[in-house]
Amino acid sequence: MYTADEVLHGIDLTGRTAVVTGGYSGVGLAITRALNRAGARVIVPARRPDVARRNLGATAETVEMDLGDLSSVDAFATSYLRHHRALDFLITSAAIMACPETRVGPGWEAQFAVNHLGHFALTCGLWPALTRASAARVVAVASGRSPEDRIRWHDVHFTDGYQKWAAYGQSKLANVLFAHHLDRLGAAHGVRAFSASPGYIRTPLQRHLTIAEMTEAGWLGTDGEPAPGLFCTPEQGAATPLWAATAATQGGAYCTDCRESEPYPHDDVEAERLWRYSAKLTGRAIPSDSIASTDSPADDDSGQREFLAGRTSTESD
Ligand SMILES: NC(=O)c1ccc[n+]([C@@H]2O[C@H](COP(=O)([O-])OP(=O)(O)OC[C@H]3O[C@@H](n4cnc5c(N)ncnc54)[C@H](OP(=O)(O)O)[C@@H]3O)[C@@H](O)[C@H]2O)c1
Repeated sequence: MYTADEVLHGIDLTGRTAVVTGGYSGVGLAITRALNRAGARVIVPARRPDVARRNLGATAETVEMDLGDLSSVDAFATSYLRHHRALDFLITSAAIMACPETRVGPGWEAQFAVNHLGHFALTCGLWPALTRASAARVVAVASGRSPEDRIRWHDVHFTDGYQKWAAYGQSKLANVLFAHHLDRLGAAHGVRAFSASPGYIRTPLQRHLTIAEMTEAGWLGTDGEPAPGLFCTPEQGAATPLWAATAATQGGAYCTDCRESEPYPHDDVEAERLWRYSAKLTGRAIPSDSIASTDSPADDDSGQREFLAGRTSTESD
């Protein structure tokens, strides 16, 4: 298993700028530190800036941002564009997992909203800076995936009964599909996108789980100790996202163990559908001239068209 530093060995990122969401805890913190050691300037948007500053010291700059609040995401993006010309790396590591039922914005399920919609809006806001970099990369930190994973199109926000694991799984699949479609939109503009699974790592992500749940899942033994061989270190967890950011070649790929996996057969269709749905919900999009260059099915694009015409009716803030 590689570590972050092994992946970045011999790569000089001096003069490059990275934004790492969640870059002050767990995997994101290891990503931030490794990028900093490789010479990059790292900016970490933080829901809790005081904690971020304490954890990061001089490793990165911290700016307040809550992914569950689109006005906060917009403010961060606007500030970034005011102070920086280009953005070389956007790594979206922030997430919540298996939390109690929580609603944000206009009633969105929080895991989908924070883990996916917030990052979707952030990417749209930072788009001008991404296209100004010579070869920008967006890496969505996802999770393990299986062919059974689904977006629950009939009830994305779990209005008919909340299931915390299904909601987390849906949000992590959304990360994969988001990167897949973003790459289709971005390739012509020099913006490549990937998703990456970090593996199992003991971090505060598990804060909503009880010891009993983690024992039942086989993550902890009956002695409360981590199951042997299951967890890797944050530095190992950071390796695949950083490999995707610097070495992967198949744009849109889902990466695991520092290699690319083949997409699932339905990914193109699902990814485009999710993109349109996300644009409609958030009222955010990347500029129309970027979208026009892709093959767009005629169905299900009302949200996108409304937004592009400045007539979105579902603004959340
Ligand atoms: N750990 C694992 O075993 C594992 C396995 C598979 C996938 N992953 C994925 O790896 C990524 C990193 O996970 P991790 O284990 O490093 O988790 P972590 O240590 O809990 O870090 C998550 C980060 O996200 C931030 N965050 C949460 N809600 C936010 C919001 N509304 N706005 C802005 N930031 C917010 C957290 O900030 P606060 O501390 O202020 O809340 C924290 O900095 C996640 O995408 C996760 O889904 C992890």
